[in-house]
Amino acid sequence: MSESRKLLRYSLALAFLTLAFAGLLWDLEWTPRNNAVHDLGPTQIDAADAPPSDPASFVNMFIGTTNGGHVFPGATLPHGMVKVGMDTDSPGNHAGYDADPIYSVTGFSQLHDDGTGGNIPLSNFKIFPSANCSTFETCTTSIFDRKLLRKLLIHGAPDDSASPGYFSTNLSSGVRVELTATRRTSLQRHTFPPSKTGILPRINVDISNDGQMSAISPTVEIDPKTGRVTGGASFQASFGPGRYNAFTCVDFRLASPPGLSVSVSGVSPTEYGVWSDGGPFLNTTSGTQLSNAGSQLGALLSFRPISRFLPTTILVRSGVSFISAEQACSNAEAEIPSFDFESVGSAARAEWNDLLGRVRVGMASGLEDTRELLYSSLYRTHISPADYTEENPSWNSTEPYYDSFYCNWDTYRTLYPLLSLHDPARFALIVRGMINIQQNEGWLPECRGATQQQWVQGGSNGDPILAEFFVKFTNQSTALNVTTDALYNALLADAEKQAPNFDLQGREALAWNTYNFLPLDLYGYGGSYQARTVSRALEYAFDDFSISQVAKILNKTDDSTKYAGRAENFVILWGPNVTVPGGPDSVLGMFQPRYLNGSSQYVDPRHCSANDPTHSTCYLDPNNVDGFYEGSPLLYSQYVPHDNALLIDLQGGPQNFISRLDFIIDNGYFDVTDEPGQQIPFMYHYANRPGLSTQRSRQTIAQFFNLSVDGLPGNDDSGAMGSYAFFNLAGLYPLPATRQLLLSSPYFPSISFYNPVLKSTTTIRVKNFSGNPENGTGGAVFVKSVTIDGKPWKSTCFIDWDVFENGSTVELELTSDISLPCGSTSDTLPPSLSTGGYA
Ligand SMILES: *[C@@H]1O[C@H](CO)[C@@H](O)[C@H](O)[C@H]1NC(C)=O
Ligand SMILES: *[C@@H]1O[C@H](CO)[C@@H](O)[C@H](O)[C@H]1NC(C)=O
Ligand SMILES: *[C@@H]1O[C@H](CO)[C@@H](O)[C@H](O)[C@H]1NC(C)=O
Ligand SMILES: *[C@@H]1O[C@H](CO)[C@@H](O)[C@H](O)[C@H]1NC(C)=O
Ligand SMILES: *[C@@H]1O[C@H](CO)[C@@H](O)[C@H](O)[C@H]1NC(C)=O
Ligand SMILES: *[C@@H]1O[C@H](CO)[C@@H](O)[C@H](O)[C@H]1NC(C)=O
Ligand SMILES: *[C@@H]1O[C@H](CO)[C@@H](O)[C@H](O)[C@H]1NC(C)=O
Ligand SMILES: *[C@@H]1O[C@H](CO)[C@@H](O)[C@H](O)[C@H]1NC(C)=O
Ligand SMILES: *[C@@H]1O[C@H](CO)[C@@H](O)[C@H](O)[C@H]1NC(C)=O
Ligand SMILES: *[C@@H]1O[C@H](CO)[C@@H](O)[C@H](O)[C@H]1NC(C)=O
Ligand SMILES: *[C@@H]1O[C@H](CO)[C@@H](O)[C@H](O)[C@H]1NC(C)=O
Ligand SMILES: *[C@@H]1O[C@H](CO)[C@@H](O)[C@H](O)[C@H]1NC(C)=O
Repeated sequence: MSESRKLLRYSLALAFLTLAFAGLLWDLEWTPRNNAVHDLGPTQIDAADAPPSDPASFVNMFIGTTNGGHVFPGATLPHGMVKVGMDTDSPGNHAGYDADPIYSVTGFSQLHDDGTGGNIPLSNFKIFPSANCSTFETCTTSIFDRKLLRKLLIHGAPDDSASPGYFSTNLSSGVRVELTATRRTSLQRHTFPPSKTGILPRINVDISNDGQMSAISPTVEIDPKTGRVTGGASFQASFGPGRYNAFTCVDFRLASPPGLSVSVSGVSPTEYGVWSDGGPFLNTTSGTQLSNAGSQLGALLSFRPISRFLPTTILVRSGVSFISAEQACSNAEAEIPSFDFESVGSAARAEWNDLLGRVRVGMASGLEDTRELLYSSLYRTHISPADYTEENPSWNSTEPYYDSFYCNWDTYRTLYPLLSLHDPARFALIVRGMINIQQNEGWLPECRGATQQQWVQGGSNGDPILAEFFVKFTNQSTALNVTTDALYNALLADAEKQAPNFDLQGREALAWNTYNFLPLDLYGYGGSYQARTVSRALEYAFDDFSISQVAKILNKTDDSTKYAGRAENFVILWGPNVTVPGGPDSVLGMFQPRYLNGSSQYVDPRHCSANDPTHSTCYLDPNNVDGFYEGSPLLYSQYVPHDNALLIDLQGGPQNFISRLDFIIDNGYFDVTDEPGQQIPFMYHYANRPGLSTQRSRQTIAQFFNLSVDGLPGNDDSGAMGSYAFFNLAGLYPLPATRQLLLSSPYFPSISFYNPVLKSTTTIRVKNFSGNPENGTGGAVFVKSVTIDGKPWKSTCFIDWDVFENGSTVELELTSDISLPCGSTSDTLPPSLSTGGYA
């Protein structure tokens, strides 16, 4: 849930919007499902090696688009800058859209994020079709007056459809709007119904109304000959104090309505004018001509219908830039020179298919919904961060520039490890962009959005992202143009340089490096020094672990030892005698904040949990000096991903550790929406009970993830939840910045990953797949034995990255016996720092 907890959770009385809705959308897909390929009949046929011809057709774009998921269902390329989508007047419209049909459409804007919290990000430059104004002057242009409901399907769901790279809707005005995109430009196709009364089709270009209606100094210019509209403004960032400038350049073409073949030409608007709060002013060409310019500003253009008996189609091309309106125009001209909607749409889909097709699953009957969940989760892994290369307003560089790191705290755990499996070239570009930010601003980005630094929640969680890349692609990084020295220096800067304001970048490094914890009563190091002292220290510990992993590969032995040592400093915060009020005696010991003098401050282990008697939220608030961010002491006491062996010792041995995990999950202390607790279902592996992990992981998926519009628990968090669900469905759980992945069983007879940089295909295959228990409980899903390329592998609990490097085949034998251990020797447990570390 990350930064969103303060947002109002609104509940919808939407019982009818259930799985039936997802099913309906399915039937409205842009390209029909290709049943011939996937309908494999009742017997298991392992098709993992056959590339899916159109994996984009497995993506359900509407999962998590209501009830606080904040998922973006519009059109974008993988990691594209422009994300063009519908905006509704719903509360919490962080991604613009809401699937609840009670909300009206306010426009189709060019920039969005996916699954974020904070204030509404982006949603700039809405295009709106007006089909009912009898005259230009009487046209309703303001965001409050122009808005419209969507048409409804028979089951009451809105008539919206989407697939990767494409979105369409039918408005109640009869206008059909379709969207597609290139990296920095959108193309919209607005088809107006025939108007027997001669009402002109009109397009409104709204410059000022971003998601927060925060524009300052908006400008707009209309070229009356071509109809070109240019403009821009300064807008408020979503999750930080900064403002950003954004610009657009909009051009129009009349076109043949889809499905007809009518020869149409012409661009010039028949009427044009600037609008403000006071309404549209015919023949004005610039916002500066308005004497009474209000808070809203835009342009309105009218076009001649192609016939009174045919629909009229207007193509609207919007270039976007964070630099200037001129650059927005050149982006548009370069990326979409021909206004060819079909070819832009199919290029976008082809790019998605190339990416999604690197993951393949073997099918058995009844797995269609699971495959849909898997590919939809994979799709959402590739919306953010976004490629803003050449759009950085703060410095010039030939390096890539990525933005919408929202936030690394959310995504480092599962999103980047998933990129390692199948998209390392993109990963390298993102890493280069992050290093370039460090070189220019001093620290790696943590929660960047709309070119601005935003609030830091944990530590410098760019560190494990860079380390994840380097540990897995040491030998490829030079070829991918990642400079080792620059990467290492960026890590050291985070670890050693005290940031002037560690709420925006870097860490409270002086305190951590001097005291080995963050004392509650230490004053003056630049940020909210008393806030979140325990959860920040735990993040710093993992960050330092990730640096030690890189140092080790670089043969920097002293550094490796130093950072591995710091990574173990979490022990200082352990309060051995703290118990849960009313809880079992076996749950003994908890992380607690400490003062400079070493004594600890008692914080109730239930604090910030669903069972907190004081109902604290533990949000990002300088006044929250209780030690924890968006998670209870109970939850954070399981958060030392690099040294679970030591944690088990602190918690009284494996049996107590297992009882504690059970207590946490069974009593509502596990919150899957809070990223620091996400590994909890898989932690039984470390106590040599992998079957319990498999079952808890499967129960988590069954309970919280499904195909419906509200099928996400909390925000998608820029793909953090998508990549998390993906790994659970794949039967893997990643340990970022290491060469190990925890192993469980996949939901498919096989799953394979093609890695284009390593040029390897790795397949995990189940010898005797017999299906998935519906609620995640029981079943013959527990790993009994593992072979790698035909040779027995020592552990059922983890595999090494070598498997992916070599392009191996991992074969699993499954059983219904939940009680089997990882293996017969101690080296079959997944590694921990204190028991020898990570190979
Ligand atoms: C046109 O539709 C808008 C909603 O988009 C509505 O507010 C307005 O009253 C309508 N105007 C006319 C003339 O029907
Ligand atoms: C909208 O209406 C058109 C027919 O005008 C139809 O082809 C399309 O499927 C409908 N739905 C969407 C979401 O475009
Ligand atoms: C707008 O311009 C047109 C064409 O030049 C002219 O006929 C019309 O009178 C003008 N209207 C106003 C309100 O200026
Ligand atoms: C980048 O280079 C361009 C062209 O030389 C220049 O106009 C612009 O001011 C530079 N931007 C920054 C942020 O230095
Ligand atoms: C990386 O390259 C080094 C030196 O060439 C080699 O020793 C090592 O085995 C390689 N590592 C992997 C994982 O391929
Ligand atoms: C790395 O940089 C070189 C030199 O600029 C360039 O030729 C090559 O294409 C780049 N490779 C990648 C993967 O970006
Ligand atoms: C580190 O040392 C090993 C063993 O001596 C060697 O193979 C490797 O190339 C060295 N790595 C670096 C980055 O120097
Ligand atoms: C925890 O309790 C034990 C036994 O009562 C006691 O010896 C020890 O000092 C306590 N530790 C702390 C840190 O309070
Ligand atoms: C440690 O410091 C805190 C905060 O100043 C104080 O409340 C506590 O009594 C001190 N503990 C000891 C043992 O001096
Ligand atoms: C779907 O997932 C949501 C969010 O986790 C959950 O609230 C809902 O109960 C699930 N629905 C079903 C039918 O399992
Ligand atoms: C899950 O399904 C199994 C098998 O149908 C059933 O025995 C069990 O009670 C169910 N558990 C839950 C928590 O629904
Ligand atoms: C898989 O095979 C093993 C041994 O051959 C057997 O013990 C187990 O029951 C089988 N599981 C299933 C689901 O068929």
